[in-house]
Parts: sequence; C-alpha cells; structure tokens
Amino acid sequence: MPSSKELFKLDLTNKLILVRVDLNLPVVNGVVQDETRLQSVLPTIQEIIKKGGKVVLCSHFGRPNGEYNKKYSLKPLIEPLSKALNFPIVFSPTCIGPEAEELKNNLKEGQTLLLENLRFHKGEETNNKDFSEDLTLGIDYFVNDAFSCSHRRHSSTVGVTNFLPSFMGIHLEKEIKALEGVLNNPNKPVAAIIGGSKVSTKIDVINFLLKKMDIIIIGGAMANTFVAAKGLDVGKSLFEKECIDLAKELIEKSQNNNCNLILPTDFIVSKNLKKHAEYTTANFDSLLHNMMALDIGPKSIELFNNNINNCKTILWNGPLGAFETYPFDKGTNKVASHVSSLTKQKKILSVAGGGDTVSALNNAKVLNDFSYVSTAGGAFLEWLEGRVLPGIEPIS
Ligand code: 3PG
Repeated sequence: MPSSKELFKLDLTNKLILVRVDLNLPVVNGVVQDETRLQSVLPTIQEIIKKGGKVVLCSHFGRPNGEYNKKYSLKPLIEPLSKALNFPIVFSPTCIGPEAEELKNNLKEGQTLLLENLRFHKGEETNNKDFSEDLTLGIDYFVNDAFSCSHRRHSSTVGVTNFLPSFMGIHLEKEIKALEGVLNNPNKPVAAIIGGSKVSTKIDVINFLLKKMDIIIIGGAMANTFVAAKGLDVGKSLFEKECIDLAKELIEKSQNNNCNLILPTDFIVSKNLKKHAEYTTANFDSLLHNMMALDIGPKSIELFNNNINNCKTILWNGPLGAFETYPFDKGTNKVASHVSSLTKQKKILSVAGGGDTVSALNNAKVLNDFSYVSTAGGAFLEWLEGRVLPGIEPIS
C-alpha cells in the first residue's frame, strides 16, 4: 500500500505530481472564512517541493453541476494559498486542455500550479475515463490528500489512479490513523457521542458503532425519536415518526451487543426556537404537548459526563442540542468542555468530526483541545458506517 513515505523515497526531481486536495472552503464574497482545510494540505505540498518535485493541485469547490460558474471559481484561493505556502502559486483557468498542458509543461522546479475547479467538467463526477486521462497528461505521480472527498467515486479520486502510480498524502494518512485508532484498536472503554437532528441519517452509523463501542450516548433532536420509541409524548419536538420502529430495533440491538445506549433523562424545553427564548427543564417522561425539547437538561449533562469519566476513548459526531441558538447550546458546550478537559489531562483520547460537529465544538471554544478533529463531512460519516471509501480503496 503506497504511503506518502513510499513516494518520498522516490527521486522526485523535476517530477510533476498531481495532488487531489479539498479546497471546498467556506468563502463569502471571495473571502475565505476558515482556512483549516487549506492549512491541512500544506505538509504534502511542502515535502514534494523539498524533494525537488513540482505540484499540480486539483480540487472541487461547491457543486456547479459540470458547468463553468464564476461563483465556484478557485481563483479566490490563489492569494491565501500563496500566503500560506510563502511563495506565489500559478493558476490555470481550466483543469484540462491545451492551456493547462502548457502551464504544467512550463512549471519550474519548486513551483505549484492550482487547477481551476474540477467540477466545471461533467467528466469529474461521472468518473469519465477520458477526463481522468486528460487530468493525468504530463503527470508522473498522483497523491490523494483529500480524505473528505474520498467517499466520492470521481475522476480525481478514483479515475486518475488507473493512469498513474498513486500514493496517500500526509494529511489523508493522518486522518485515517486517527479514525482507525478509535474504531479498530481503541483504548477501552470507548464511547461514541452521536447527536444531530435525524436518526434516519445516522442509522447505519449507529448500527455499525453498536458492534464497536462500549457506550453510545445519544443527543440532539434524534434523541426525541428514541423517547417516542419508548411510547412517550414528545410534544412539539422534532422527531421522525417513521423511524420509531428503527429506534426500537437499535435499542434492542444495543442490548444484544452489550453496548450501553444512553439517552437523555431530561431536556431543556421551550415554545420557540429563537435566541434568548424562555425555557424550562422537563424530564424525558413529562414533556408537555405544547413544548419542544431543544437541548439536553442538567441531569443528562451529568449522566453523559459521568459515563465519559469511565472511558479512555471518545468519538464525537453531531451536536447535542440546537447549539446555533443561545441558550440551547449549553448541553453541547458542557459535555464538549468536559471531553476537552479530560483530553488536556491526558485521561482520554478524543476524536470528532462530520457535519455540524466542527461548528459545535468551535462554538464551545474547545475545537483545538480534542486529540483530533476531522474536517470531513460525508466522508467521516461513511467511514463511521464501516464503508470502504472508493478514493482510498484503489490506493490501499
Ligand atoms: C465536503 O465538503 O464534505 C467535501 O468537500 C465533499 O463535498 P461534496 O459533498 O460536494 O462532494
């Protein structure tokens, strides 16, 4: 399995290396709002350049549906990327074709070329053979450094590996190592904290984790569906009626797998989901019919944190309440602070990722305290479902 170490053993002098990165960053009016993903791709680029190679970066940005759309141009990234690398990068206004070929051919040792958005071409998402081949013209090696795109069977993640010797990038390896550490060989007891609004989007995740975790803690609006599965009234709370039987099944399966499935015992309830709304606390079995459960309550925070105290490894995906709207962020913040504090004391290893998790931990001001936070969304979830990601499969 060619790791980045295998690539760096090769003589890369004057070699052209196509690196798939994820520059799908939050950009508002041409200004990058969060550079985390950009920073994560720097080590691979810097190492290739140190070894005398030339880097050709390719990425998607947004979902332009196979057509040019100025809104989704990677141009706004030239400046932050050049700044982060400390040298000016070259930009190609198209990722394939004569202009891109010429820019690739004229690239000097130590230079980096950024190709325009791959998804301006239909061939990218259809994993078209000709498009894949065009991307690889003049290139010597391919590196996948985009774990967060590896759940996509696209030209730039899968197709190009049919044409080039392919390797993992430093960031992709780091991400896999952190996730493998939690799923395959964790220090036990190991717990997963799973939140978010819908059970339906997490069924496969919970089904897979039931076999791996000692404890699964459920929060967020998806906990309401489990409460409803116990035959209790959830009032006006968000829940999925059609998933009640599934929730019952998951409760039963967790018992059969000796996995302790922990649900909230109380909630913060309100008539409105808006900032500074009036709220009260209600036990899970006494939710009022005109109220919505919007966060976990103080008893649940204590219950969750007590269980976390007994663990050596924590995996976190999804917020425990409506964290975007104060004061319904308290449950997420309190549990996140507890995980962060145990991590800092080196009592636990904590790995988080997927969807809203990064924003929730950011809001709790603990993002940098976790042992590892993945910026991958869909790819993180598919990994948690136990799937082999197509972008990683061909090179493993
Ligand atoms: C992400 O933001 O999760 C990745 O960049 C993948 O983007 P996609 O869901 O549009 O493929």
